[in-house]
Amino acid sequence: METISTDVAIIGAGGAGLRAAIALAETDPKLRIALISKVYPMRSHTCSAEGGAAGVIKPDDSFDLHFDDTAGGGDWLSDQDCVEYFIHEAPKELLQLEHWGCPWNREADGSVAVRPFGGMKKKRTWFAADKSGFHILHTLFQTSLQFPSITRYDEFFGLDLLIDEGRCQGVTAMEMRSGELRQFHAKAVIIAGGGGGRMFPFSTNGAIKTGDGMAMAYRAGAPLKDMEFVQYHPTGLPNTGSLLTEACRGEGGILVNKNGRRYLQDYGMGPETPVGKPQLKTMELGPRDRVSQAYWHELQKGNTVSTQWGECVLLDMRHLGEKYIDERLPLVRELCASYLQVDIVKDPVPIRPVVHYMMGGISTNTKAATPIPGLFAAGECACVSLNGANRLGSNSLVELLVFGRRAALSAIEHIQGLPAANTKALNARAVETQKRIDGLYARTNGTESMSGVRKEMMDTMEKNAGIYRTEEGLQEGVKIIHDLRQRYDKVILTDKSKVFNTDLFQMLELGSMLDCAEAVTVGALARKESRGAHQRLDYAERDDNKFLRHTMAYFKGLEPPRIDYLDVVITKSPPGVRDYSGDHK
Ligand code: FUM
Repeated sequence: METISTDVAIIGAGGAGLRAAIALAETDPKLRIALISKVYPMRSHTCSAEGGAAGVIKPDDSFDLHFDDTAGGGDWLSDQDCVEYFIHEAPKELLQLEHWGCPWNREADGSVAVRPFGGMKKKRTWFAADKSGFHILHTLFQTSLQFPSITRYDEFFGLDLLIDEGRCQGVTAMEMRSGELRQFHAKAVIIAGGGGGRMFPFSTNGAIKTGDGMAMAYRAGAPLKDMEFVQYHPTGLPNTGSLLTEACRGEGGILVNKNGRRYLQDYGMGPETPVGKPQLKTMELGPRDRVSQAYWHELQKGNTVSTQWGECVLLDMRHLGEKYIDERLPLVRELCASYLQVDIVKDPVPIRPVVHYMMGGISTNTKAATPIPGLFAAGECACVSLNGANRLGSNSLVELLVFGRRAALSAIEHIQGLPAANTKALNARAVETQKRIDGLYARTNGTESMSGVRKEMMDTMEKNAGIYRTEEGLQEGVKIIHDLRQRYDKVILTDKSKVFNTDLFQMLELGSMLDCAEAVTVGALARKESRGAHQRLDYAERDDNKFLRHTMAYFKGLEPPRIDYLDVVITKSPPGVRDYSGDHK
């Protein structure tokens, strides 16, 4: 197996991975950086982010307000030292992107424009129309091209971390076009592989978001934190699951039920304000968990609209007018026209909640360090405990910048004065990966189909670990996912070829999703309270006495994870009542 020696290996070349690579290259031009990604960087999921990125920039806003929105929006499960660091770094990162060429929208006076977003009580979301993710990723990618020290390994599938003497010292990966394995020996590894929303059947996530990075770290001994917190975005297209950005509501779109009622006023999100007037009350700008939960209640009450794609509510943007829609929401108009044949200028569009984001992930501290020395993580695959129990829209694009950079700086600190690697030991670890892959090819006595196991996993996650959960449903979910993990070992590869074997990649991805799904269901069953995105019908209240704590899941092979807890860091905002009935300016 070919060995590639490098200083820092980064797994994932989306927003967090690229930001980390740039920070490494800028800080120390002598460092050798390997940027490993299963897709070409511009195909990373950051590209599909729409609405924008939050950072305090306007005179009527403040760091304290951004702090309060984030900590309260996360139902006080965020580590407040992390929130503090984040809010101060956020505007610096967004300005840095500006200097690298990101085309942020402008006010008439030339200053950066900001738009309202859910759960943020001030306008602080920087945006580039409704293609913010595309422009951010493009800016990072083109910037990364300046640095000769960044070597890209596009279409390399990351497999296993190389751990020796308790330190992470590299990773194995498969070159997808040849099927050959490579071992990357590195002094530090940064995982930036994105989330795993594809374990659910209906998701805004691209097909690549299968939790590979999370599962890789988990299998190597790093705990997964707060995995039970899975975010539903309130407005997805009902057939494809494509995102209709929260900016639709930030710009003034309203949600109505089959009776034309703006039903959010019935769920503690403020009294109705006249349509077309400036949005004075929270209403459609409530946080995502609450707005998605309101849909569920409307469904139970029979207030939804029956469509050929299932039960929906309506997102009405007609009053914004064609000119404004084309300026601010061109992609939304295009998506609705292409996939639903609805012109949002003329008609309301049916929508329903869709799995969008995982608040949980590889446990990291505010320095983006995992408990394994030499292993760092950033972006959605990590749980740095910024988002707590519910992430606010537009905090995540900034999170991947702030903590992508932070991971790079921490990696540089870590590698100073490290002893030389024991290459023999690392080679031996890499051989284990080769054996694992060879074992998958050699398996002949399979009784399970990959698509069958995957479908059962997805259906179980939606039915048993969806917007609302119960003890009985979760117990069933835990059992089914556990059985599926055993059955996964009986799936055979039908395609035994080497060159770009998508059958193999899907099998590996399914394994990652199952590992992560078990951490989600087991964590959710153990958390007997309701907080943010984790809502239990049988434990309807938040319980700070017992659960103001992070769930830590430790990998135990084919057995369910061992669950432990870690106290939340509270510095200045004690848990309180989340109030979204007030003014939103
Ligand atoms: O609705 C959106 O544009 C999504 C933004 C986010 O998840 O941060």
